[in-house]
Amino acid sequence: MSTYLQTIEQVYEQAARQPDASLCCTQAPVWNLPDLRIPPIMLQMNYGCGSTVNPRDLKPSDTILYVGVGGGLEALQFAYFTRRPGGVVAIDPVAAMREKARANFVEATRLNPWFRPEFVQILDGNALALPVASSSASVLAQNCLFNVFKEADLAAALAEVVRVLKPGGFFATSDPITPTPLPDAFRDDAVARARCLSGCQTLDEYLATMVRAGFGRIEVRARFPYRLVTPAEYPSLTEAVLLESIEVVAHKVPDNFDGSAIFTGRTALYTGPDDVFTDASGAVLPCGIPVPVSDAAALRLARHPAIVVTGPTWHARGGGCC
Ligand SMILES: C[S@@+](CC[C@H](N)C(=O)[O-])C[C@H]1O[C@@H](n2cnc3c(N)ncnc32)[C@H](O)[C@@H]1O
Repeated sequence: MSTYLQTIEQVYEQAARQPDASLCCTQAPVWNLPDLRIPPIMLQMNYGCGSTVNPRDLKPSDTILYVGVGGGLEALQFAYFTRRPGGVVAIDPVAAMREKARANFVEATRLNPWFRPEFVQILDGNALALPVASSSASVLAQNCLFNVFKEADLAAALAEVVRVLKPGGFFATSDPITPTPLPDAFRDDAVARARCLSGCQTLDEYLATMVRAGFGRIEVRARFPYRLVTPAEYPSLTEAVLLESIEVVAHKVPDNFDGSAIFTGRTALYTGPDDVFTDASGAVLPCGIPVPVSDAAALRLARHPAIVVTGPTWHARGGGCC
């Protein structure tokens, strides 16, 4: 195993033994649902940088694989929907983290009469070689883990995601990104990388990596300021950088007319004279109603004199025509 991956496991072994609220500073709201009580220890061990799966995307029949269990917060939230053994499988290579998550699920059982520990199966495993069968999960999620991987390992981790997802399934992911490429000396700081700071890609790199992995539809669901890193804290930085966090949902579906479709919240609005505009790409635009479209479709449709295209909101909620 590369030394940087060993450093990452050491950082999280320590974070399992001694919860560290400063490790990741997510402001993402936790789910506030009837009869769901999150144990305080899971909140202290919220090592994510956003949210992954939105409850509106889940079905009780889903089989969800969660990579990098942490304190178990998101896995518990997902189990709220699946409520059956094997409904949620969580993997982690760090024995101390798996042990801590198991203890946290015992506490969750005490607080939530509907929950049983077997609703979340915790496995020893690594994102680079997932210990589950191909096409076995309808949903796969990771929160603030994949940004720590260097390029080749990230490609391997994403290839594993695509292998394990069922056709039509989706990958819900949250990671920090950087507005400009980070200096090499900072990128080489393995502890900063483990703390989800120095491995960040730019948004364009992040989305291009997803496209290369083979997802046919990629939606940027949220984008928000995450954390300021400064030369005073990290001397290998030449200037302060405000990292952002993104939440992305990538679907294992075939490419559409324009190739892999990236949705960033753009819409296309047909202004008439007909009741509806259609074309060979699959565009269906009822007159006067903004319809979500991918960035590539937006560029193409903007050339039509009767179509107005709106800019990215960085909040693509799903749906749309092309
Ligand atoms: C930043 S924490 C995020 C934890 C959790 N997802 C959350 O949002 O609180 C990263 C997690 O991934 C685990 N991890 C580290 N290296 C990993 C690897 N190669 N494959 C899978 N998980 C790994 C760590 O032990 C830790 O639980």
